[in-house]
Amino acid sequence: MVTAPNTIVWITGASKGLGAAMAATVPFPGATIVNVSRSEVPGIENVKVDFSDPGQWSRVEDDFTRRLGSFDGKLAVLVANAVYQPQFGFAGELGGDEFRKQVIANAAAPLFVAQAFIRACRPGFESALVMMSSNGAVQHIEGASIYCSAKAGIESWVQTVGRERKQRGHGPWIAAVRPGLMETPGFRGMLASTPDEFPAAAQIAKMVDVRPPSDPARIAKGIWKLIAERAETGALVDLGATT
Ligand SMILES: NC(=O)c1ccc[n+]([C@@H]2O[C@H](COP(=O)([O-])OP(=O)(O)OC[C@H]3O[C@@H](n4cnc5c(N)ncnc54)[C@H](OP(=O)(O)O)[C@@H]3O)[C@@H](O)[C@H]2O)c1
Repeated sequence: MVTAPNTIVWITGASKGLGAAMAATVPFPGATIVNVSRSEVPGIENVKVDFSDPGQWSRVEDDFTRRLGSFDGKLAVLVANAVYQPQFGFAGELGGDEFRKQVIANAAAPLFVAQAFIRACRPGFESALVMMSSNGAVQHIEGASIYCSAKAGIESWVQTVGRERKQRGHGPWIAAVRPGLMETPGFRGMLASTPDEFPAAAQIAKMVDVRPPSDPARIAKGIWKLIAERAETGALVDLGATT
């Protein structure tokens, strides 16, 4: 007999990096784990979406509605973690198509997905929403204008929505997390940028020679602890500084 799960966890970008580490360390036995990204992850559920194409976003919205419509378990979680960053570059110098895709995937898609999750959550089960941010939200790094402004937008959104949820008295607990530098494919890709596209790469490479980037599994466990404790809603948590 197949028993219904007590917990459902969606992780955007669970195919690699921090998202994969989060999927591998889900602390809820028997949870249904759903990866949302362009590639599929064996052994867990998958919703294939390219976030740079808004025409595909309803796939994840439909998945929330379908699974949560009949959910009689205890906890639903969304970790909005994916980032689309194949290339860095100064504004006006990145190709128009690439600029558009990065803005859509990194600034708009996380908000759309998060609000679709809030809409699908009903009273009767607990829910938690973590949005992945970065120190880039406050650092203004040349070559990463879309990334930095997208993360600043995410942080503002989380803090505003946290207030809204307090006023309503129901709906998901929400937090924004700055995970700090981690050893991931995304991090390695950033270091491989040319100095012209992303001048900070050399400085970051020197920095991590002295203090290596964190293991994403360690940061993932810190995020699960945060979700388990669900302290203040709407909080901005800097795990890079505290773990
Ligand atoms: N690594 C760091 O040092 C660091 C520092 C601060 C903040 N962060 C934040 O932590 C989060 C994870 O970063 P990471 O370093 O683990 O990233 P990563 O190694 O580049 O992995 C990115 C994930 O996002 C997915 N993704 C990329 N483009 C996508 C698209 N167009 N549509 C759907 N999914 C897409 C990828 O899956 P597919 O390729 O299968 O689509 C992959 O699973 C991000 O939000 C990042 O901003 C990371």
